[in-house]
Amino acid sequence: MYRTNTCGELQIANVNQTVTLAGWVQKTRKMGGMTFVDLRDRYGITQLVFNQEVDAGLCEEANKLGREYVIQVTGVVKERSNKNKNIPTGDIEIIVSQMTVLNAAETPPFTIEDDTDGGDDIRMKYRYLDLRRTAVRSNLELRHKMTIEVRRYLDSLQFMEVETPVLISSTPEGARDFVVPSRMNPGQFYALPQSPQTFKQLLMVSGFDRYFQIVKCFRDEDLRADRQPEFTQIDCEMSFVEQEDILNTFEGLSKHLFKSLLGLDLMDPFERITWHDAMKYYGSDKPDTRFGMKFVELMDIMQGHGFSVFDNAGYIGGICAEGAATYTRKQLDALTDFVKRPQIGAKGLVYARVEADGTVKSSVDKFYSQEVLQQVKAAFGAKPGDLILILSGEDVMKTRKQLNELRLEVGSQLGLRNKNTFSCLWVVDFPLFEWSEEDQRFYAMHHPFTSPKPEDVALLDTDPGAVRANAYDMVINGVEVGGGSIRIYDSELQQKMFRLLGFTAEKAQEQFGFLMNAFKYGAPPHGGIAYGLDRMVSLFAGLDSIRDCIAFPKNNSGRDVMIDAPGYIDQAQLDELNIVIKE
Ligand code: AMO
Repeated sequence: MYRTNTCGELQIANVNQTVTLAGWVQKTRKMGGMTFVDLRDRYGITQLVFNQEVDAGLCEEANKLGREYVIQVTGVVKERSNKNKNIPTGDIEIIVSQMTVLNAAETPPFTIEDDTDGGDDIRMKYRYLDLRRTAVRSNLELRHKMTIEVRRYLDSLQFMEVETPVLISSTPEGARDFVVPSRMNPGQFYALPQSPQTFKQLLMVSGFDRYFQIVKCFRDEDLRADRQPEFTQIDCEMSFVEQEDILNTFEGLSKHLFKSLLGLDLMDPFERITWHDAMKYYGSDKPDTRFGMKFVELMDIMQGHGFSVFDNAGYIGGICAEGAATYTRKQLDALTDFVKRPQIGAKGLVYARVEADGTVKSSVDKFYSQEVLQQVKAAFGAKPGDLILILSGEDVMKTRKQLNELRLEVGSQLGLRNKNTFSCLWVVDFPLFEWSEEDQRFYAMHHPFTSPKPEDVALLDTDPGAVRANAYDMVINGVEVGGGSIRIYDSELQQKMFRLLGFTAEKAQEQFGFLMNAFKYGAPPHGGIAYGLDRMVSLFAGLDSIRDCIAFPKNNSGRDVMIDAPGYIDQAQLDELNIVIKE
């Protein structure tokens, strides 16, 4: 037997037992005639003691141990005189009588401790060593537990996990496909699924009723902290449901996860906001509702007073930061620089402080009387000590998005975006289509299978841009953790959708004939949702990037620097696949 116990479990109750442990040497310390070794495995750290006086030879061996050596030791558990209250095994130590070095280790390229000296790149290159660190490992443990709880909850509601294929043809979810050449069908390619969308709908036609799958999805899109080219969805679909059924079922799943993994009771129903209101009050379709600071529009109050920037604007709006009137000139200048950054693109920032006596002091006092400034104050319901920040611009949506960035920044600065607080929200009634100025055509905002609201169907012919969809996103702390919709299940309406999206009848038939055909054989009303598992785990773990909860993630250029992928392939392999690389 390699070990009788793990390095994370021995306590006072085990004192005087003879045990065998195996693990990695975290560090060694020599103190007088004693050598102390911290032995680590997945479960924790146990202190080993080697005593010069008892066994000089063994102690000598211990002094030669390097970091990350793999050893096996046998010894007796003793109570420590110098207890370490920070670790579960901190009350005991092992007085070692036997040791075997199972494997030596080269000095690792960075220290394998919580506070490591390794930068991002080196840790990714040696990810297998990074994964030895408690912080990284515990994220994966949480991920594992989350998938177990997802399965437990969905199984209890009769959901059935069904695997769908990975080598498929394109599913349009708005990103580029990753493609795989087919040797047996020269010149033809599979696409990796951006999601199992069409398959889960076909499973509804098959009568599976309640499907789920924890499934890898692939999207060739620009990467960010919350995006990986391959990521995992908790993908779900239900038959004979309306939007309300889906929202209730999956609000239930989220609450179950909060309770079982974080011990949090989220009793209240999730707040709901329409997409339209989310844009109006937060300038974002995924507002962070941990704090208020809703936008207030000021066109009526602030136009027509001779301040040309505002007089020529298409939108003037602001936020009120409670208690932030203490912001110094320097801080306000920094905020102005923030909104003027090219990624945000505002031209400037107007601010107004509510003084202790209730008067308002603004950066545009020249143009506005105290009377008008008092109207501004009233519009926000601002109190003495508050700071009002105002942006304006030509384009309504653009300016709202800039104000969203400002709101998030100020929220962070004021400590209102605490990672241990959770605010869950459904964003509903998304528009069915999104107009692309660049391509002069409509795109599906969610995907082409999303159904319009019945009361808006007539608008499909007259004003497609105004049609609302039966589509919803689950947003937690400003992160879009999931999204879905009630689907079209009528093949004629589906064909009309494809037409509106610019597909010719032939192209639609070629790409989605299988789905439209299936709908002719008794398709039940159905709908579903998919969560981003990586986003959900990183939210629960308080991580800044989803990379930290993925065992072997890609970097921002889509590379796995550990295995050095993607890479070139042999000429022979290219020949077999009938592929010629363009110089
Ligand atoms: P959607 O495209 O909204 O919907 O994706 C669902 C959820 O998947 C997560 N997600 C990602 N996570 C990490 N990296 C990415 N590149 C990435 N892209 C998406 C998000 C998102 O909310 N088939 C539909 C679902 C449905 O209609 O049922 C779909 O895939 O958390």
